[in-house]
Amino acid sequence: MTQEYTMHAPRFSQLDRLLTDTREWWQFMPFSSSPAEWELRHPELTHWLLGLDEPQLASFRENPEQLAAALSHWIPQAGAMQALAALDALPQIERTTPRGLESGIPGRKWQQLQAFNGVLPALSLPWLEWCAGKGFLGRVLAATHNTPVTSLEWQQVLCDSGEAAARKLALPMTFVHGDAFSPDSGKFILSQQHAVALHACGDLHVSLLQRVAERKGQAVSVSPCCYHLIRDKAYQPMSSLAKNSVLKLSKHDLRLPLQETVTAGNRVRNLRFVEVSFRLGFDSLQRSVTGEDVYLPVPNVQKALFNDGFEAFCRWAAEQKGLELPDNIDFAHWQYTGEQRFDWVERLELLRQLFRRPLEMWLVYDRACFMEEAGYDVTVGTFCDKPITPRNIMIHAELKG
Ligand SMILES: C[S@@+](CC[C@H](N)C(=O)[O-])C[C@H]1O[C@@H](n2cnc3c(N)ncnc32)[C@H](O)[C@@H]1O
Repeated sequence: MTQEYTMHAPRFSQLDRLLTDTREWWQFMPFSSSPAEWELRHPELTHWLLGLDEPQLASFRENPEQLAAALSHWIPQAGAMQALAALDALPQIERTTPRGLESGIPGRKWQQLQAFNGVLPALSLPWLEWCAGKGFLGRVLAATHNTPVTSLEWQQVLCDSGEAAARKLALPMTFVHGDAFSPDSGKFILSQQHAVALHACGDLHVSLLQRVAERKGQAVSVSPCCYHLIRDKAYQPMSSLAKNSVLKLSKHDLRLPLQETVTAGNRVRNLRFVEVSFRLGFDSLQRSVTGEDVYLPVPNVQKALFNDGFEAFCRWAAEQKGLELPDNIDFAHWQYTGEQRFDWVERLELLRQLFRRPLEMWLVYDRACFMEEAGYDVTVGTFCDKPITPRNIMIHAELKG
C-alpha cells in the first residue's frame, strides 16, 4: 500500500505541516533558553503571558480550546491544530467480568483494564500481552474472551505474582519471563494472534508494532505512553511519511506529550516553586560566576535539602558541579532572579501546552501510518476518559483481507 492511500496519512501530513511551521513556539527548552526570536518579534505576547495571574494560568491549563483561542492572535495555526488533534472515543462493548477478578488490582487500573477490553474487537484469537507487568490486562482478557493469553514480562517477580493469581483464578494464562527487545522474543509473535500492550513505554510498544508488522500478526492493539523512553538519542520515525518529515524530535520534545500540568494543590505548588526557583537561581548565579551563558543541569536531590534555604542549595549544587563560589555572593539577589525566571518558565510551559496533544497525535499517527503501510486497517481513538488515565489513546491494527 502506498502512503497516499492510508487513512491516517492526511491527518499526519496536516499536523506535520502545522507543527513544522510553528516549531519556534514549542521546540525549545524553557529552562535553558535565552530569549527566543519570537519574543523580540512579539513583545505583546511576552506582555500578555507575564500579565496572567495564577487563576488565569490554571484556567488556560485546563481548557486547551480557550488557550488556543487566546494564542491564535499570535499563532494563527492554533485552532486548526486543536481540531486535528481531537480524537473520537472508540465504541465500548459492555463485557461482564467474573467476580473476584479485580482482586489485588488498584481501582483506577481496574477501570483502565475494563475500558481497554471494552473497545477491543472479539476476534476469537489467542492473546499475546506485551510487557505485561502482573498480567492484569491478560487476566481480564482470559476471563472475558475464553481464549488463552501469553504474557511476556521482564521482571521475574511480576511473572511469579501474575502466574500465582492466574492459577488461583483458573485462567488460561502462561507467563514468559523475557526481554521484549531480545530477538528471541520474536518467536512469541504468531500470525493467528491478537497482541496487546497497555502502557508499554516508548520503544517497548514500538518494538511490538514492528514485530507484528514483520511477522504479519493478525491483530495488535496498543495504548502508547512515555514516548521519550527510547534507546536512540533522538526519535526514530516509523512511517515513510514521518521519515520524510523535516521535524526532528529530541527526547526533550518527546516529553512534551506527557507534560500535562494538572492544577496541583497549594502544598505541591509551593514545593515546586521552591525547587524550580532555587534551581533557576543557581543557574543564573553559575552563569555569572563562570561567564558562560549556558544552562547547567544539577542532579536530583532529596527534597529535604530545600528546607535548608537557597544558599545551602547553591553550595551543594556548586560542589556537585565542581564550581568554586567566590566570597560575598549576594544570595538574596540570585534567589530573587530564580523566582522571576520561575514565573517566566511557567508561562513558557503554558505556551508549549498548546502543542502537547498535537505532538502526541503526530506520534500516534506515525505509528498508525506505519501499520497501514504494512498492510493493516488501523483504528485510532480513545478508550477511556482522561481522569482514568491521560494516556487514553488506542491504536488498533488488523491485517487486511
Ligand atoms: C508501565 S508498565 C505496564 C504494565 C502493564 N501492561 C499494565 O498496564 O499494568 C511496563 C512494564 O514493562 C515491563 N518491561 C520493561 N522493559 C521490558 C522489556 N525489555 N521486556 C519486557 N518487559 C519489559 C516492566 O517491567 C513493566 O512491568
